[in-house]
Amino acid sequence: MPVLDLKNVSAAYGRIQILHEVSLHVNEKEVVCIIGPNGAGKSTTFKVIMGFIDYLGGDMVFNNQNLVGSRPDQILGLGLGYVPQGRIVFNQMSVRENLEIGAFLQRDKQLIRESMQYVFSLFPRLEERQKQLAGTMSGGEQQMLAMGRALMIRPTMMMLDEPSLGLSPRFTDEIFEKILDLAKTGMTIMLVEQNAARALEIADRGYVLELGKNRYEGTGKELLDNQNVRRMYLGG
Ligand SMILES: Nc1ncnc2c1ncn2[C@@H]1O[C@H](COP(=O)(O)OP(=O)(O)OP(=O)(O)O)[C@@H](O)[C@H]1O
Ligand SMILES: [Mg+2]
Repeated sequence: MPVLDLKNVSAAYGRIQILHEVSLHVNEKEVVCIIGPNGAGKSTTFKVIMGFIDYLGGDMVFNNQNLVGSRPDQILGLGLGYVPQGRIVFNQMSVRENLEIGAFLQRDKQLIRESMQYVFSLFPRLEERQKQLAGTMSGGEQQMLAMGRALMIRPTMMMLDEPSLGLSPRFTDEIFEKILDLAKTGMTIMLVEQNAARALEIADRGYVLELGKNRYEGTGKELLDNQNVRRMYLGG
C-alpha cells in the first residue's frame, strides 16, 4: 500500500485545466522526485494534494485517508508536511518564531519544545541562529528554516518543492545532504527539482510531468539512463 496515492487527478485554476489525469504514488520511506519543464504542473500537483486548489476529478489518498475535499490544515494534521517553492519565511520574525508558527496545530507547549529540539538536531545552524531575523539569513539557511518549520508538525511524509532553486552550489550540496539525512530517519519524501540529475541520483523513483500529464516514470537510475529523458531534461 502506497503512503500517498494519486489516481487520474485533474486540476484547474479557474477555467484553465492544468493537470490532466496525473497518477503517481509514493511508498513508505521512499524518496520520489518529480521533474519536468517549467509550467509542467509540478507545483500544481503539490497544491492540489494539499487542498489549496480545487480539483476536477480523480482520487487522492494519504495513509488510507481520502484527501479530496479536505482543508490544508486538516491535511497537515494527517502528517503530510509541505515546503512550498520559493523559500517562504517570515522575514521580520526570528528563526525561533518562524518555527513556532510551524507548530500552530500543536497546543501542548512541551510537545512544541520537543519538536523544536528535533528540528535543531537536524539543523544545528537554526539553533545557533534562533534569535536572528529570518530575512537576514542566507538563501540556503532560509530553505533550511522553511524545511524546519514544516517539520514542526512532526510529519511522516514531506513534500519539498524546488528546495535547491536559486542556491549556490555549496548550499545546494548542503540542502541535498539534509534531504538525505531526513530520508535516513525514515521520512517518506516527494520532491520537485529543477536540478533533475541530482534529484534522480538520490531518488528511489521518479516521474516526468509534461503539460500537466504523466510522461515517463521509473527508478531514479532508469530515468537517468533513458535517452529521451537525458536529452530533454538532463542536458544530453
Ligand atoms: N495561481 C495560478 N493561476 C493561474 N494559473 C496558474 C497559477 N499557478 C500556476 N498557474 C499555471 O499553471 C501551470 C503550471 O504551473 P506550475 O507552477 O504547477 O508549474 P511547475 O511545473 O511547478 O513549473 P516551474 O518549474 O516553473 O515551477 C503554468 O502554466 C502556470 O502558469
Ligand atoms: Mg513549480
